[in-house]
Amino acid sequence: DKGNHRHFMEKEIYEQPEIISHALSHYVDFATGAIREQDKAIDFGAIRSLAISACGTAFLSGLVGKYWFERYARLPVEIDVASEFRYREIPLSKDQAALFISQSGETADTLASLRYCKDEGLAIGAVVNVKESTIAREADAVFPILAGPEIGVASTKAFTCQLAVLAALSIQAGRARGTLSEVQEKELVRHLIEMPRIMSHVLNQIQPQIELLSRDLSRFKDVLYLGRGTSYPLALEGALKLKEISYIHAEGYAAGELKHGPIALIDEKMPVIVIAPHDRFFEKTVSNMQEVAARGGKIIFVTDEKGAAASKLETMATITLPNVDEVIAPMIFSLPIQLLAYHTAVFMGTDVDQPRNLAKSVTVE
Ligand code: F6R
Repeated sequence: DKGNHRHFMEKEIYEQPEIISHALSHYVDFATGAIREQDKAIDFGAIRSLAISACGTAFLSGLVGKYWFERYARLPVEIDVASEFRYREIPLSKDQAALFISQSGETADTLASLRYCKDEGLAIGAVVNVKESTIAREADAVFPILAGPEIGVASTKAFTCQLAVLAALSIQAGRARGTLSEVQEKELVRHLIEMPRIMSHVLNQIQPQIELLSRDLSRFKDVLYLGRGTSYPLALEGALKLKEISYIHAEGYAAGELKHGPIALIDEKMPVIVIAPHDRFFEKTVSNMQEVAARGGKIIFVTDEKGAAASKLETMATITLPNVDEVIAPMIFSLPIQLLAYHTAVFMGTDVDQPRNLAKSVTVE
């Protein structure tokens, strides 16, 4: 049932605040502000490193997770798309654990990676939506994302719920490894608890602007997304979402890679969507933006209030979100990215919930 929405994708975008709040309550004690104990089959305090494998959007949530596990838990993370991971002949040892992220829990390459790690004797964790799935069944520890059924082929709420779960797990790992104090843990959790309310606010606030902007975006043939830090996986996710439902060619790049190739593409026919909250990387990303502007590139600047105030560059559009803590920025900044892809596709008249050539669950390699 789509409720009042035109498409399942739109419904799934708008239900994120409520769904994430529900998912978070499984991982976080809202009353005490502590992370709840999770399945002990993975001992985050004892492992030497973590290997993550997944496909598509789930891979990109894992890439954000890598930044969190490394920052908050000082836990080295090895991550790859499952179709490469399974054949790379990665040397693994029993003091590592492996984490597989999959909405459906049935993706063939992800499952094959899981079985490879299992044969090597690693403890296996699964971040899944479908709890009765093969990947959940074969894992030692299951971390449900509790997103409810996702009907739209393009993943939205499963992505942000994966992020929320990975954030909670990385904080828990930080506690277990002694790299986060109790005070730091409480502070991070406080931001997670505030997140659903901020998401609702953002969804209401940005919708009209994004709907207008999508008309402009639909006139272009190619779009580039840039970001640094956890905004880098978001740039990849933005490009993936746009191409899969609007069929506009889009690429995501780490902003620092711009001058190593993609800058050759920049002209007035190539809008560049820059995802840059006012974080540790902001100044560096702004200097990449200057390089784009100097070559006549059109910039769509997705930032926060501080970032909007700090940049004087002329843009095609600036989408200004509230200032939020770094730990929740990836979830908050997912919203304009999803809405921009959604409205652009609607404007172009594509089959948003069932884009051509794509299947919701990819059970063959
Ligand atoms: C993109 C999308 C796909 C899936 C990928 C993995 O919007 O939905 O990229 O993320 O096929 O699927 P799961 O998570 O079921 O393993």
